[in-house]
Amino acid sequence: MLTGSALRGLIDALQDAVRAGIPHAAEYSYFPSPMPEMLKARQRAAGYALYTALGIGRRDIDARRAQFARNYAFFGAPVGVVVTIRRDMGKGCFMDLGMSLMAFLLSAEDQGFGATGIGALANYGPCVHDHLNLPEEEMVVCGIAVGVADASAPENQFRTARAELQDYASFRGFDEPA
Ligand SMILES: Cc1cc2nc3c(=O)[nH]c(=O)nc-3n(C[C@H](O)[C@H](O)[C@H](O)COP(=O)(O)O)c2cc1C
Repeated sequence: MLTGSALRGLIDALQDAVRAGIPHAAEYSYFPSPMPEMLKARQRAAGYALYTALGIGRRDIDARRAQFARNYAFFGAPVGVVVTIRRDMGKGCFMDLGMSLMAFLLSAEDQGFGATGIGALANYGPCVHDHLNLPEEEMVVCGIAVGVADASAPENQFRTARAELQDYASFRGFDEPA
């Protein structure tokens, strides 16, 4: 967990890497590859909703890039968390880590803070790893920005669409008499 000069130092290193055009080098795949069309459409819709809320046009590549670079400034939050996992953990351990991330995010909200995950941090995992001199066996999974949410910010004013329950869950046996 970083704040003050330690967080600024990491952000400077990340912004240098972004400006230098260092290729993304995540150590694990976040999304399926290739991405199924149905998921691609949902991803596009979420991105479109965000950029529309921010007033960024579809073809305004510079503005989109600048917005994406905010990931690597922890969105201006005063506290940044770098989440790592031992490389030798099984895939199932990502479930455990996901649960602890959820607990962290909910607990931050509960205590009056705002927090958001930054999966994009993994794109510069090796840069973060080197800069923080992390143990060899740890890989960078994601970041979390923690601060006080600005409810009036446009990016906090929209909600992404939700899939219909019947599209991802099925219910069997519930209509039988008890
Ligand atoms: C593990 C995790 C990683 C995330 N990574 C990013 C990210 O890299 N960039 C980003 O802008 N938002 C990121 N988010 C935030 C989500 O895109 C979304 O804004 C947030 O979960 C709330 O929106 P929802 O109500 O649609 O879930 C992440 C969230 C989580 C939980």
